[in-house]
Amino acid sequence: MAVATRLSSVVSIASAALALGGAARELLLDAHRASYGPGSRWGRSRAPVAACCDSQIPRFIPFIPLPYSEQDGRSFLAEAERKWKGSDERTFAIVEYQSDRFLGVVTIRLRDGGSLGFWLSRDARGRGVMTEAVKAVVNWARGEHGIERLYITAHPDNVASQRVAEKAGFVRVGITQHEPPFRDGTRTAIRFELT
Ligand SMILES: CC(C)(COP(=O)(O)OP(=O)(O)OC[C@H]1O[C@@H](n2cnc3c(N)ncnc32)[C@H](O)[C@@H]1OP(=O)(O)O)[C@@H](O)C(=O)NCCC(=O)NCCS
Repeated sequence: MAVATRLSSVVSIASAALALGGAARELLLDAHRASYGPGSRWGRSRAPVAACCDSQIPRFIPFIPLPYSEQDGRSFLAEAERKWKGSDERTFAIVEYQSDRFLGVVTIRLRDGGSLGFWLSRDARGRGVMTEAVKAVVNWARGEHGIERLYITAHPDNVASQRVAEKAGFVRVGITQHEPPFRDGTRTAIRFELT
C-alpha cells in the first residue's frame, strides 16, 4: 500500500503505519495527541531521554538541552502535547512497528512555508528511517492540510540531515542565518525547500 494513502487514511485516528520497502522494516508514526497524552505509553516513556543523551542531537539542534535530564524529557513530552493542542506544531513519534520501539521524532509546523525538524536515536540511524518518516509527514501535510511549501535547515557539517532533506525531495537553496546559533558557534545553516 502506498505510504501516502495508508498514512492519510488512518491519521485521523492518530496513528499510521507505513511500509519501509521491506516486510521486516515497518514504522509506526504515532500522532502526538494519541501517543504522548497523560498516562499514554510515551507520556510514561524514558525513550526520548535516552535518545537525547546522544551528543549529536544537541550538537545539531541547539535548543535541545545539554546535558539532557529526565525532567527535560518530561518537559519535551508535555510541551509537544501542549503545542499539538494550542499551536500549528505537530510532533510525531517514530516507532518501529514490529518491536514497538521508540526511534525518534519528526516535528512539522503546519503552515505553508513551515519548518520540519527531526532526530533519531543513535542505533536507529543509517538505514533510511528518517527519509521515510519525513516523506510520510510531508505527504500527510499535503494530503490532509493542503500544505505545499516546507523547509529544513541543517548545520553545514550535518551531512546526514542534508541527505535526508535531498532524498525526501527538498532542494538546497543556499545559506541562511540560524537563530539560536549552534553550540560550536556556527550562525549559519544550509536551507532546503520543498515547493
Ligand atoms: C539526521 C538524522 C535524522 C538522519 O537519520 P537517518 O535515518 O540516519 O537518515 P537516512 O538513513 O534516511 O539517510 C542518511 C544519509 O546520510 C548519509 N550520511 C550519514 N552520515 C554521514 C556522514 N557522516 N557523511 C556523509 N554522509 C552521511 C547516509 O549515507 C545517508 O545517505 P545515502 O542514503 O545517500 O547513503 C540522524 O542522523 C540524527 O538524528 N542525527 C542527529 C540529530 C540531527 O542531526 N537532526 C537533524 C537536525 S537538522
